[in-house]
Amino acid sequence: MCSRSSRLQGFYKKSLAERIALIADWAALTVEETELLAAGLSAEQADTMIENTIGRYALPLGIGANFLINGQEYLAPMAIEEPSVVAGVSAGARLARAGGGFRTGSTEPVMIAQIQLLDVPDAARAEKAIGSARSEILATADTSPTIKRLGGGPQDIEVRHLPDTAAGPMLIVHLLFDCRDAMGANAVNTAAETIAPLLERLTGGRAGARILSNLSDRRRAWAEVKIPADAFDSGEYLGAEVIHRIAEANAFALADPYRAATHNKGILNGIDAVLLSTGNDWRAVEAGAHAWAARDGQYRALTDWHVLAEAGEQRVRNSARNLRVPHDAPKVESLYGRLELPLSVGTVGGATRSHPLARVALKILGVSGARALSEVVAAVGLAQNLAALRALTTTGIQWGHMRLHARKHLSGF
Ligand code: MEV
Repeated sequence: MCSRSSRLQGFYKKSLAERIALIADWAALTVEETELLAAGLSAEQADTMIENTIGRYALPLGIGANFLINGQEYLAPMAIEEPSVVAGVSAGARLARAGGGFRTGSTEPVMIAQIQLLDVPDAARAEKAIGSARSEILATADTSPTIKRLGGGPQDIEVRHLPDTAAGPMLIVHLLFDCRDAMGANAVNTAAETIAPLLERLTGGRAGARILSNLSDRRRAWAEVKIPADAFDSGEYLGAEVIHRIAEANAFALADPYRAATHNKGILNGIDAVLLSTGNDWRAVEAGAHAWAARDGQYRALTDWHVLAEAGEQRVRNSARNLRVPHDAPKVESLYGRLELPLSVGTVGGATRSHPLARVALKILGVSGARALSEVVAAVGLAQNLAALRALTTTGIQWGHMRLHARKHLSGF
């Protein structure tokens, strides 16, 4: 548990050098790590990461402040080009503090690999054969010593029937693979390719695609908040009115895919920025988030925001032990919010290791592993959405944008 606070008052007013010093102190960055914030990835490092490298492309790295998550303080490193996102997420996280911050949770980090089987002569018999050979399949899929060392590996097999596709009937085998702190794409894909010949033998079919699914719906994280209405009071708006407007905006995005796409884009503004800064595959998370948002057949908001009315403050003590709520006690309103989505992220391997700034970003976050990272990311998405909905339903989104624009022009940007 941390005694320091992420409530960085006036952070945005400090000079760049002062901000860097403050964050270096927060995360106990070494001199080399601090220097990396300015230097970034070297050309040589870039050349080892992808093919045909000709340079490096830098983005601003900002700090989303004020995060209180399960009682712990966090600062969120965010790589993003869009103005207002970092300010918005910090404002959203500050509002959440009025309700004790975010509560988060996550599932076990289980990914799904798919093996497509075609020309299977008897689908029912094939399914039986796969079931009988479960142990052998799982043993064959145990291909990653690194993930095994972390305590993960293949967990189970599931069979799905697609009887009527454009290419005829197919049998789809899902391999469930616990990736622990790795995102696990390489390990999972290797396992899928390794078990494919065995599945062909067992089913008499022919293996087609063998690849992970980005709809990683076994690997989800969620964040929740409950914020008292008066936290939204301002000179112009009454908090109680604002939280009703936020709930209305969420209802709009639950009912209408045109609005849902923009609503979810706003959530992903924050999520992608943290994923990018920590070397995670944000396209994988984007794909999973959108597929999850359409899981009941209609594309919808990823969030739930609604107003709670509870008899709270008016409770009176009628004995040393018991609290009594008078019948005529007025209700106290608060805003409840929740975001849940598939979040396949890692804190080991891939670019989290090869990109030097990703390691610095993970150090600033101070998360213990992939599940903790996914939970912080869910809280960031919820805070981002809260800030957007509050702005959209009150002052409008352009007000903040224009202030930043003005700053850029004044500084001759
Ligand atoms: C802009 O990048 C994101 C928003 O459009 C999100 C939203 O409308 O909820 C402001």
